[in-house]
Amino acid sequence: MTSHLVIGIGELVTHDPRFDRPLLDAALVAEGGRVAWVGRAADAPAADLCTDLAGAAVVPGFVDSHTHLVFAGDRSAEFEARMSGAPYTGGGIATTVAATREASDDELRSGLHRLVDEARAQGTTTIEVKSGYGLDVPTEERLLRLAREVTDETTFLGAHVVPPGIDRADYVALVTGPMLAACAPHARWADVFCEPASAVAFDGDEARTVLTAAAAAGLGLRVHGNQLGHGPGVQLAVELGAASVDHCTFLTDADVAALADGDTVAGLLPGVEFSTRSPYPDARRLLDAGVEVALASDCNPGTCFSTSMPLMIALAVREMRMTVAEAVRAATLGGAHALRRDDVGHLRVGARAHLAVLDAPSHRHLAYRPGVPIARGLTL
Ligand code: NIG
Ligand code: FE
Repeated sequence: MTSHLVIGIGELVTHDPRFDRPLLDAALVAEGGRVAWVGRAADAPAADLCTDLAGAAVVPGFVDSHTHLVFAGDRSAEFEARMSGAPYTGGGIATTVAATREASDDELRSGLHRLVDEARAQGTTTIEVKSGYGLDVPTEERLLRLAREVTDETTFLGAHVVPPGIDRADYVALVTGPMLAACAPHARWADVFCEPASAVAFDGDEARTVLTAAAAAGLGLRVHGNQLGHGPGVQLAVELGAASVDHCTFLTDADVAALADGDTVAGLLPGVEFSTRSPYPDARRLLDAGVEVALASDCNPGTCFSTSMPLMIALAVREMRMTVAEAVRAATLGGAHALRRDDVGHLRVGARAHLAVLDAPSHRHLAYRPGVPIARGLTL
């Protein structure tokens, strides 16, 4: 097996509890795609190959635990209207569904690959991709087949919204019956947009029906919850053992307590609040209560058309008062836990050698240099 030594790491964030702060003047050895050694450059062992990063800071590759990257069409006019005061209601999802159903596999594939490449160029090395813009059996299955071409972290989101022209109960029956049967072989997860405040999303009872059926089909659970208003999403996610509940903008004390006592990661998506001009979630309240937090892009054509995890870190620090260390941790280890993965999101010995290399001397620059493409993904 070829060993690969990386030297010239000016600062290395590992999330290894053996080190209580980032390592300075560090080195890392990868073997067989896994981290085999980390430490001070002066102590580095010999290896077959050597790369010198000339003082760059390195953090674990970003784990983007929430995206919707398989779609067609453009909703920039909807974004423009929002910036002039129109509210986000989820109604625009139908526009993307219509364009996506019309698109060929090649068109969808090329958009997906462009966005995955864009994410990777900014330091993302693990990415979750949802369906949810097909909302009929053949298109949902098609979207998941395409998503599987780029990641194992695929999520069936047939329960994104109730599409026009079908009765709600009939649609829930379709999602939990033939659509789930067609999609489950291509998905690791199932998700539901549980949002009583949206006329097109699902209430608590409907969401429970969808999630229970998905779990019975062997899928892990995720929830979009409490984005547009208070609701049952968070507590339902915790009760059913979902890996994450994402958005978490409108939380009661009971929601926060449930998250603190449960195993469900709170996924925060500050690009959505930025792009919908909405209030940001109260990250400090969650962190201070001991809730595990993940940061993700939620890249989608409606509420946040950005794949940039560095932007999410900058927003989390500036707008949600997370420390830079908390934000970097949430974008790496938090994302890994949101996907129930122990092999990514950190650079301890045994982890996948997935790095984000920064054109900067410190991880602090991820928040300090907003909008500047300083991060790139490096998989050894
Ligand atoms: O995560 N909230 C629901 N779904 C997406 C937005 C989808 C869209 O507007 O196209 C989200 O924000
Ligand atoms: Fe989403």
